[in-house]
Amino acid sequence: MTRSLITGGFGFISSYLTPLLLQAGHEVILLDITSNEGMLAQLGDEVKAVRASVADWAQLAAAVRDTRPDIIFHAGALLPPASEDYPQAAFPVNIEGSYNVLEAAAPLRCGTGRVRQQRGLLRAGCPSRACAQ
Ligand SMILES: NC(=O)c1ccc[n+]([C@@H]2O[C@H](COP(=O)([O-])OP(=O)(O)OC[C@H]3O[C@@H](n4cnc5c(N)ncnc54)[C@H](O)[C@@H]3O)[C@@H](O)[C@H]2O)c1
Repeated sequence: MTRSLITGGFGFISSYLTPLLLQAGHEVILLDITSNEGMLAQLGDEVKAVRASVADWAQLAAAVRDTRPDIIFHAGALLPPASEDYPQAAFPVNIEGSYNVLEAAAPLRCGTGRVRQQRGLLRAGCPSRACAQ
């Protein structure tokens, strides 16, 4: 079974992506600095949550090492207006956090592994093991 990890797992994008991945037969891990027990209960046993920040390398690396995803969808971010009102808070999340996700995904790259940007979302993983859609 393909295991997908979504950063920003309790956000808007993930609330649509998670059911689609479940429908496609994925096991899903939601990584976020926050949690939503109601959403988690509705999603069922194929979904797990990990509390971690993409801005914290040690937390992110441990989460990826422990959960061993085939694919990472990167949707963890601080969006406007907060990111525009507090750019110094947004920088470590949006810039350093994206770099950290790429570094954390590096060990997942085997064979033809790749990182792709899709409509503003980064997706990283090993397509030989994961679904290619
Ligand atoms: N919403 C859209 O229409 C849309 C369209 C295209 C691209 N995007 C992009 O997708 C990404 C997610 O957007 P969204 O609408 O789901 O935003 P959102 O604000 O609904 O969700 C972002 C999630 O990231 C989490 N988060 C914040 N800081 C974090 C951190 N340090 N570590 C881990 N998680 C953290 C938040 O708790 C939240 O659950 C953004 O990069 C956005 O630019 C969004």
